[in-house]
Amino acid sequence: MKFDKHGILEMTKMNYDPDRPAAKNPVKIQDLSFRDGHQSIFATRGRTEDMIPIAEKMDRIGFYSMEIWGGATFDTMHRYLNEDPWQRIRTLKKYIKNTPFSMLLRGQNLVGYRNYADDVVENFVQRACDNGIDIFRVFDALNDFRNFKTAVKIIKKNKKHFQGSICYSLTEPRMGGKTYNLEYYLKKAKRLEEIGADTICIKDMAGLVSPYDAYNLIKALKETTEIPIHLHTHFTSGMGDLSLLKAIEAGVDIIDTCMAPYAYRTSHPAIEPLVVTLLGTNRDSGLDINKLAAIDKEIEKIVPKYKHFLDDTKLSIIDTNVILHQTPGGMLSNLVNQLRQMDALDKLQEVFETLPKVRKELGQVPLVTPTSQIVGIQTVNNVLFDKDESYSNITEQVKDLCFGLYGKTTEPIDEKVRQKALQDYPRGEEPIETRPGDILEPELPKIKNEIKDLAKDIDDELICALYPITGKRFLRWKYGKEEIPDEVKPKTLEDVQKEEELIRKAISGELSAKPKKNVPANAKTFDVFVDGEHFSVDVADPDIKSYGIRAPKKEKKAAVDETGNLKAPIPGMIIEYKINVGDKVKAGETVVVLEAMKMFNNLAAPCSGEVKNIDFHAGDSVAKGDILCYIEPKK
Ligand code: CO
Repeated sequence: MKFDKHGILEMTKMNYDPDRPAAKNPVKIQDLSFRDGHQSIFATRGRTEDMIPIAEKMDRIGFYSMEIWGGATFDTMHRYLNEDPWQRIRTLKKYIKNTPFSMLLRGQNLVGYRNYADDVVENFVQRACDNGIDIFRVFDALNDFRNFKTAVKIIKKNKKHFQGSICYSLTEPRMGGKTYNLEYYLKKAKRLEEIGADTICIKDMAGLVSPYDAYNLIKALKETTEIPIHLHTHFTSGMGDLSLLKAIEAGVDIIDTCMAPYAYRTSHPAIEPLVVTLLGTNRDSGLDINKLAAIDKEIEKIVPKYKHFLDDTKLSIIDTNVILHQTPGGMLSNLVNQLRQMDALDKLQEVFETLPKVRKELGQVPLVTPTSQIVGIQTVNNVLFDKDESYSNITEQVKDLCFGLYGKTTEPIDEKVRQKALQDYPRGEEPIETRPGDILEPELPKIKNEIKDLAKDIDDELICALYPITGKRFLRWKYGKEEIPDEVKPKTLEDVQKEEELIRKAISGELSAKPKKNVPANAKTFDVFVDGEHFSVDVADPDIKSYGIRAPKKEKKAAVDETGNLKAPIPGMIIEYKINVGDKVKAGETVVVLEAMKMFNNLAAPCSGEVKNIDFHAGDSVAKGDILCYIEPKK
């Protein structure tokens, strides 16, 4: 790096000439607009058809790569957009012929939320290679690189690029302390070098890295390893641009940005100001600001239809809570939603205060999908339900974590918590020391047997292997075996504007709220659905009474209902009924598994008796308060 006598990057006078001489050490730029960009601010709802109009122009910019797949896109596409995730890669490849494609792969979790067996991982990564992914950004929520083993084997076999990621985590406002200090990251980088990483990514999914920590970390990494270093950060806390600039000064090789309309808020720094900032320096990106601005103009014509996904509950586009609590922004909004659905929003401060303790007891894990949900939901449980004993309500995922099914935690798990979690745990009471994938039985044969001819090829089978319920539903849509619901169909900007007008009218009281079917009128708050997304957030306000819309009814946990009706305590999707009509059950026995916030919740029978009525099926979405089944109490 060359600095002038003022300590800034050596600079010559330069204009916007696209043919200016190349810098000595240009920073390389990966664009994230088609994956993390819309995942971060538009709830991953970006459709392929809205990427196509700018795809060829994006290809001509000269990005190092474009991240177009992985993360939450696979889930969202087949669940909410009726889009075949595999098809997106092939379609975009027709328009983007020169820029390499990258994807975010959650190690042995692939693009789901648990560790899959090796046969699923091998086939998934192979098909991602075949369909056109060039660069695999692989990470593990626990930074346990044993979970990379199977994926990397296939990536290497296909001679594709393996980018090893280290999840950036903190326990205090700045890097350091006992757990997440400079030594921790350098040790992890050395390990990635040993397992053959082509590049190393510092994956700061929460926007935690502060500018001088970024500088020190990148500088130390550049002195430790020859492998190119890539920095991924989010704007969430407001430090993103500053941190990228300091990282560039420290010699980072590649950075991640978005096109301006996809940038900022919980997304990433925008590319345009950085390109101009570096103009004429020895790290000039060499990209053409005029071409970028022209694409921005086109995006502005397309993406306003996703505008309603932006969080407009406050004016600020930064989240100071991230700086204060070192927790990811997405995790905070999940906690708020979860508490709101349990009518316990007043406990938010207590949850904030309890979270560091629970995280420490669970092994001081980095907070990223899925560990952020695991720690967050257990914290809420502890705050709400621990009256007489601690950890009175342990989630299945925490039990799995304690058993070692996610891998090795950064610090040891608290022994008392572990013992309690593993009492009667079906796999055993002693945690495993091995790589989790080693104890998982092959899964594909079972899936193939179950779905029979609904799947036409391995790509279809993999959708079902990762998402058994919504995956099968998607295949029924795909092959015309089930009518496609309106909410998953593409919408034009005009459709969206009409819907927004309806919502506005509903909120202002010009329309009266209609209860959803199957929902008892007295148990319903006002719900608005757009793209199948729940908008109770906007209207579940104490003042809503004055608009003539019902205020949320106080509701206790399902288990205290003695009438025999098992009601959904939170909105979610039915995974499984453990009972049939006519079965005799005991109070407290698990009868329904409900997925909410990507977590499985075992719902217990409210009383002992006989199952008289089952109101839904696996795969159905239910609202809070929906009656899931009726158990006639034993007299
Ligand atoms: Co990210």
